[in-house]
Amino acid sequence: MKTIIIDGANGYVASNFINKLLEQKYKVIALVRPSVKFSPTERMAEALTKSGDGKYVNMDNLKVLGYSLLHKDFLIPQKQLEEIFSEEVDYFHFAASLKFDLKSKEEIFETNVGGVANSINVFSKFAKGYSRFFFIGTAYSCGRFSGRFEEKFYPNEDIGKFRNYYEQSKRVAENIVKENIDKNGLNGHVIRLSQVVGNNKTGVTKTDYGIFDFAKRIHSLAFRNPNQTVRVHVDPFSTQNLIPVDTVINYLQRTVEVKHVPTIMNFIAKNQVKNIHIIKSINRLLPIDIVPEKQLARHEMNALERIISAGMTFTESYIDTNLLFDTSNLDQILMVDGHEANENSVHKMLEYFFDNLATQKRKRAMISAL
Ligand SMILES: NC(=O)c1ccc[n+]([C@@H]2O[C@H](COP(=O)([O-])OP(=O)(O)OC[C@H]3O[C@@H](n4cnc5c(N)ncnc54)[C@H](OP(=O)(O)O)[C@@H]3O)[C@@H](O)[C@H]2O)c1
Repeated sequence: MKTIIIDGANGYVASNFINKLLEQKYKVIALVRPSVKFSPTERMAEALTKSGDGKYVNMDNLKVLGYSLLHKDFLIPQKQLEEIFSEEVDYFHFAASLKFDLKSKEEIFETNVGGVANSINVFSKFAKGYSRFFFIGTAYSCGRFSGRFEEKFYPNEDIGKFRNYYEQSKRVAENIVKENIDKNGLNGHVIRLSQVVGNNKTGVTKTDYGIFDFAKRIHSLAFRNPNQTVRVHVDPFSTQNLIPVDTVINYLQRTVEVKHVPTIMNFIAKNQVKNIHIIKSINRLLPIDIVPEKQLARHEMNALERIISAGMTFTESYIDTNLLFDTSNLDQILMVDGHEANENSVHKMLEYFFDNLATQKRKRAMISAL
């Protein structure tokens, strides 16, 4: 079985992927940075338990290494790097900052652009034979694009063409992969993900990104101010491109299995979910009545509506999107269609997500009462 090396391995998508790879008996090398309190191994074990929803994970085929994304050779001793790259590998670069705001601009570019450049350096220096480098990008690197976003490289553009620095940094990173393919013969690939949500079958949702970030804010407000009607600045009939995490993982596993994969693939949902359905689900699950309005200016809002709006600085740029993505390359490698999120599965995910928030709240209350 081939070895898969993954950086940013303790993140949401990567840890779900590693769970699947270990189940399939792949050898996995996980690169994780230490935190103040926990070692890379502890962090990885926790992420695997969380993404597996507490299920037993056999870690016999897993090796966890601490690393520093932006330093030469990741600050990993040369001998160790030679050892992990001693056979042909698939290397997946997941590490990224998912921040988006102006004040984090430096961190976003350092991590998302500097991080990919350095990972390619390490890969190019040590990888053997037909080893492949996969950059995990985002479908939102399309920026403020109209038309069908194809599975090809697009040139770098200035910030006005994007909703935030995160999108722009991921576009610049893709072009670093391109430059290395063109000039240095890198066996490089780009996989663009749309908004990754929970598990489509079980509803298990361990991310608080995108629509779940919005849901989390509404959850906290609904319990502090129950039974209110609040308007939010959202176009009810625009859509979110939501891809269930289990579908992403099936696609990634297929990528590992197929020898020749296209250079760029859009891992996106073909059927999008309307904002109104997400909001209706939230209204059914929480003591609140949210009313989405396409045109709602700040000065028309009451105090509660302004609080919600202030917490939507990220989500707000995606409230009126109806994006179109090409998937011809993705379709080439897939034998079966992925399972798509729909109104019912998103409802199930939101239900799990809110239950989990309530459990965490109870646990915190018990601990503080001790
Ligand atoms: N989730 C989505 O909906 C989505 C959509 C499109 C694309 N993507 C892409 O998919 C990838 C994974 O996303 P995710 O949602 O799984 O993100 P995540 O849970 O936030 O994981 C990000 C990972 O990157 C690591 N990282 C961040 N800054 C780092 C640094 N300076 N040095 C080393 N490691 C660093 C994090 O490590 P720490 O835990 O140590 O911070 C973590 O392991 C990213 O490349 C993202 O751009 C995600």
